[in-house]
Amino acid sequence: MSAFAHEPVLVEEVTALLQPAAGKVLLDGTAGGGGHAEALARRGARVVALDRDPAALRATAERLRPYRDCAVLRRDFGEAREAVASLGLPAIDGALLDLGVSSAQLDDPGRGFSFQADGPLDMRMGPEGETARELLARLSEEEIADILRELGEERFCRPIAREIKRAPRMETTRDLVAAVERAVPRRAFPAKIHVATRTFQAVRIAVNHELSSLDAFLRDAPALLRPRGRLAIISFHSLEDRRVKRRFAELRGRCTCPPRLPSCACGARASFRPLTGRAVRPGDPEIASNPRARSARLRAVEKLEAAA
Ligand SMILES: C[S@@+](CC[C@H](N)C(=O)[O-])C[C@H]1O[C@@H](n2cnc3c(N)ncnc32)[C@H](O)[C@@H]1O
Repeated sequence: MSAFAHEPVLVEEVTALLQPAAGKVLLDGTAGGGGHAEALARRGARVVALDRDPAALRATAERLRPYRDCAVLRRDFGEAREAVASLGLPAIDGALLDLGVSSAQLDDPGRGFSFQADGPLDMRMGPEGETARELLARLSEEEIADILRELGEERFCRPIAREIKRAPRMETTRDLVAAVERAVPRRAFPAKIHVATRTFQAVRIAVNHELSSLDAFLRDAPALLRPRGRLAIISFHSLEDRRVKRRFAELRGRCTCPPRLPSCACGARASFRPLTGRAVRPGDPEIASNPRARSARLRAVEKLEAAA
């Protein structure tokens, strides 16, 4: 067993939607601990697994070793098109994203993702780029407040940004938690989540450019699929889910013209059909055994036979 512990969510549902079988190529853009990837490979699919985190890729490579023809690449899923091309594959039969961070990343204090444990203010999923500490040092108070509002939907974004910039040091997760606790009035501490949850989410999304990677994937992945190819995405917060929902609606031919136009000018045409009406949510037994599954939402679409 690899040290990269992560309990995959909605495995049965993902498997039923992506229909892994011998002869199919399926892309897993967020390999993590390799749980989904292995479930797909076990049913005969050739899995192409991507992740930005070298530790995740080591764990996935170990789990995929018994299965033939699988590939494990250190790539951003926003570069899925290049990854698939680099393997000489003309098209794929399906793709999965299971967004966010894994339990292994979250639970390692050295990665700096958690407000529960003290660690360096890093939060990078891979070894490249600016750490959270560097980002917060470079940005102005106003820019930090914008990030907290847009990516964390944090209503105390301004006072928190002020405390972050005023803090005598901002080097560890504890420093960031302390700044949030100083900025938010005690009586306004949320009842159900830690007061620093939204700030940590926002900073992590900014450090890893998570929404621009998702947008690039949503733009490019449909063209990678063969007709009847399927796309399944699990999101964990509304910023991601909204993007997925909007793009899937567009692929299903929803008109995106402003309502004031007398007739459609955007040329909306359906190239996909929905496979999930409402988002699929984990059942109570799964949430009981894996509390991190609580906020998962799975949506999937299938490319039409006639689509280019
Ligand atoms: C929730 S975990 C996936 C868990 C995986 N499905 C499993 O069964 O173990 C998300 C993974 O996606 C990776 N990740 C997040 N954003 C990424 C991106 N833009 N490109 C590649 N990997 C990414 C993270 O490093 C993390 O390992």
